[in-house]
Order: sequence, then structure tokens, then C-alpha cells
Amino acid sequence: MTTTLTPPGAAGAPAALSESLRAGMRLERTAPPCILVIFGASGDLTRRKLMPALYSLMRAQRLAPSFAVVGVSSTEWRREQFVEEMRAAVRDLAGLRVEEDCWQSFARNLRYLSGDFDDRGVYEQLKQELAGLAPACGFNLIFYLATPPSLFPVIAGHLGQAELNRPLPGAPPEAWARIIIEKPFGRDLASARQLNQTIHQVFEEEQIYRIDHYLGKETVRNILVFRFANGIFEPIWNRRYVDHVQITVAESLGVEQRGRYYEEAGALRDMIQNHLLQVLAIVAMEAPARFESEPVRDEKMKLLQSVCALGQGETAMAKAVRGQYGPGIILGQPVPGYREEPDVSPASTRETFAALKLTIENWRWAGVPFYLRSGKRLPKRASEVAIVFKSPPYLMFGAEARIEPNTLVIRIQPDEGIALRFEAKVPGTDVRLRPVDMDFHYGSSFGEPQPEAYETLLLDAMLGESMLFARYDFVETAWSLTTPLLEAWEAQPAANFPNYAAGTWGPAEADEFLAREGRAWRRP
Ligand code: BG6
Repeated sequence: MTTTLTPPGAAGAPAALSESLRAGMRLERTAPPCILVIFGASGDLTRRKLMPALYSLMRAQRLAPSFAVVGVSSTEWRREQFVEEMRAAVRDLAGLRVEEDCWQSFARNLRYLSGDFDDRGVYEQLKQELAGLAPACGFNLIFYLATPPSLFPVIAGHLGQAELNRPLPGAPPEAWARIIIEKPFGRDLASARQLNQTIHQVFEEEQIYRIDHYLGKETVRNILVFRFANGIFEPIWNRRYVDHVQITVAESLGVEQRGRYYEEAGALRDMIQNHLLQVLAIVAMEAPARFESEPVRDEKMKLLQSVCALGQGETAMAKAVRGQYGPGIILGQPVPGYREEPDVSPASTRETFAALKLTIENWRWAGVPFYLRSGKRLPKRASEVAIVFKSPPYLMFGAEARIEPNTLVIRIQPDEGIALRFEAKVPGTDVRLRPVDMDFHYGSSFGEPQPEAYETLLLDAMLGESMLFARYDFVETAWSLTTPLLEAWEAQPAANFPNYAAGTWGPAEADEFLAREGRAWRRP
């Protein structure tokens, strides 16, 4: 792959450098000139994530100086209003310092179009706008669908009709057109397949970038480096040494203003089908042949195909636990239960907590359970992967010595880092054991802030790097794993909701579920 920009400060560097050469020279990656069209430009995602990420990339000189954004939305704003709203979002919502010079050069190429996403005229107008911008800003186009999912097929269809699924007339031969699609990608297997088919009628798979922002997190990206750039972990990363694995994504927040969406989604759809299964695949996959998009995505896919189906109905339900939070206390403050949240039915049976056990049928992992859990209104925000190793076969320190299994904890967030827990002798004349941690913290080791996931993902999409995006087959396989459980739960609504108080670690059933297997959830 080539980029066409000279990196900042590299006077005299050749205009086009291969990415590997850049890496070798430790040059930072910069995006080629392009125009990003955001559908849903007045929405929450654009304000909270996309604009701050783009502004940060601009400030870090990762975007071409001519980089342009065209916001499209049904909100009737003038261009100036759009620019002001985005500036406020960058400053107030993302808390970034707006540097006047940088903001001015970023804002110079912000455009805005208001209209109905189902109006053909909007796409004709958009095409004219793009044709006007392209000679100065570049012919490469990225369309970002940051709208409610029901609009994904509508927008893709119109882009196709307006021939915006390919470079504009007059574009140089190397120009490209890409589409980034937000989650949720479907709401079950059938709808995800349908959506893939519809989008594939307009865009080729290599033009499509399906977002799962967990893949853009530094700590998730580091799992591959940790596993495959170190010699000592891989030999023990298997059924001979690992007892089980726990993947937890705990949030202390509730559903906030997203009650309407969440009533349709729930924890299994919102978190497990996408983020947790992506993390599982990275933790458990085999080493790819090369560190490139397709070999990595092939290995993840192979792993997901080895995950044992949950079965149907009661069989699926026996491998999972669901919960819904009631009122409780978080950080000393009383908070309402899920059923009292805005836009939530007072009799809702939607799950805000889900835990399940998956097994992987391959030589590396046969017999090793992977426990996944995610919930809202848990005592704290903590996402981690815990590899729990087998205990020593025989303990020579006496029957009274109690030991914890060695555990390797990859902290995804917050306090990003990796800790290895092992037993040590407590100093003293007696032999007493106590677990201690060997702990790596990103903050103190690197002393540099980590980029936001959306910065990494947007830059990758501009560079045509699809490793950190979900391929169509992964999305469908992830749905095929989770859909039977979704259907079973929907067919038998829980009668005991709410079954955990906000500020606790989920329903008692979740603890009992692991206790029956002789194990316990970690407290992150
Ligand atoms: C989103 C979910 O995908 O991820 C939200 O829709 C959830 O419900 C969020 O809060 C969690 O992301 P993060 O990066 O805060 O862990």
C-alpha cells in the first residue's frame, strides 16, 4: 500500500512511501487526501466520537491539509451552525483543547447538507458538492453511516443509484470510494445476512468497513503483540495449562438517554455479539501467517467457526444467565432501576446483564470454558480478559495452604495494563503463601496518551487497512452463535426481573452458574 503525503517535517522525503518502509523509518502514518461524508452529522456519535477523533488526527498532522468533511443530516442547520456545533462538541463533549489555527484549517473544509436520507435529490446535491470539492480536496471518498441502523440499506441504495459507490467522474485511476458502517450490524442472523446482501449489491466487500470500536482500542490491539511478539506465553496458551478464560466488560453507567435503542437491543446484542466475541477471537485464535488484514481476519474467523453452538431453547438457556438492574447505589449515589429509565417500559423484560459459557472445539482449546459477561450498572467500569491457569497438581506446602490459581489479567480499560498473579512466600520465619501481582501499566511505561479507538479506526479506513474491521462472515457467524439464545430468551421472558441491584456484580444466578462448575467470577 502507498500513501501520497510527505510526512510533516520530512523535507525531501519521497512523495510516496510504502507503509512498511514508513514503519521501518518510524514515520507516522498519514492519510491520503480524501473527503469524508458523515450521514447522521448532527447525532451523538458524530459529536462525541467522530469529530473529536478527526480533529485530533488533524492536530497530529495525520490528515491531509485539504481533508474535507461533508455532514449530512435531517437537522436544518446552516453550514456555520454545523461548524459551531462541532467545535462545541470537540471542546465540551470530548474535552479537547481547541487550537485556533488548527481548528480554522479543519473547519475551512467542513460542509453541511440537510435533507431526508430517503430523498434522491439529497444524493444528487451531495454529488455536486463532492464534485466541487474533489479537485482541491482529493477524489477519494468515504461514506460514514452514523445513523439508526434502519437507514443503512436506504443510504447504501441511494449511494448506488447516484453512482457514489465508485470514484467521481474525472477521478484518477487510483481513487477509491469506501463505506464505514456503524454497529449494530443487524439484530439477528437473518437481518445481518439481509443487510450484507443489500450492501453487497452496491459495494464490494473490500470497500466495506464495519466498525467494532473495541478493535480500535490500544489494549485489544496489543493482545496480538503480547501473544505473538513474546516467546514465553504462547507455549502455555492452551488446554494443557489454561483452566478457563473470563472476558468481562463491566459498565457502571446505565442506559442513559438510549432507552429506546436499548429496549430493542439488550446486553447480548449490544455487547456480547460484537465486542466480546471479537475479543474472544483475538485471545483464542491461532497465529496468522502474516500480520495483514486478511490472514488475521481469516484466523479470527476460523476460531469463531470452532466455537461450539449453544443449541436451541432450554439447551442454550442452560449455558447463559441474564439479568436486569433494579434501583441501587453507585459511587454513593442512588440510581434508578432500568424500568425507571427514560423511554423504557415499566414492565420491560430486556436484559441489561448477560453471561454465557462458550467452548471451542479445536486442539488448542478443547475442554477449556470461556466465560463471557457484560452488564450495565455494575459497581465499576472495568473490561478485562483473565486467563486463569491450572493449579499445581500437588501442593507440598500442607493442607492448610490455600492458593489462588495463577492468573494473567489483560486490563482493557481503565488502568490499561497486564498483570500476572502468582503465589509468593510472605516474609517471615513461617511458610505462608499469598498471591502477588507483577503489573505493567501503559500509563507509567509509555507515558503517552493512547489514541481514541475512533482515531485509529478512521485513519485505518482512510489508509485502506481493514484488519480492525469486522468482515461479513465474522458478523454473520457471531450472529449465528448468539441468535438461538436471543430467540430462546425472547420466547421465555424472565419472570424475576429486576434481579440485581444497581451497583452489584449482577444477579446471584451468575455466581451460582460458575459455582456449579467449581469456579468463581473475578472481581476486577
Ligand atoms: C457500545 C454500546 O457499543 O459500547 C454501549 O452500544 C456501551 O451500550 C459501549 O456503553 C461501551 O464502550 P466503551 O468503549 O465505553 O467500553
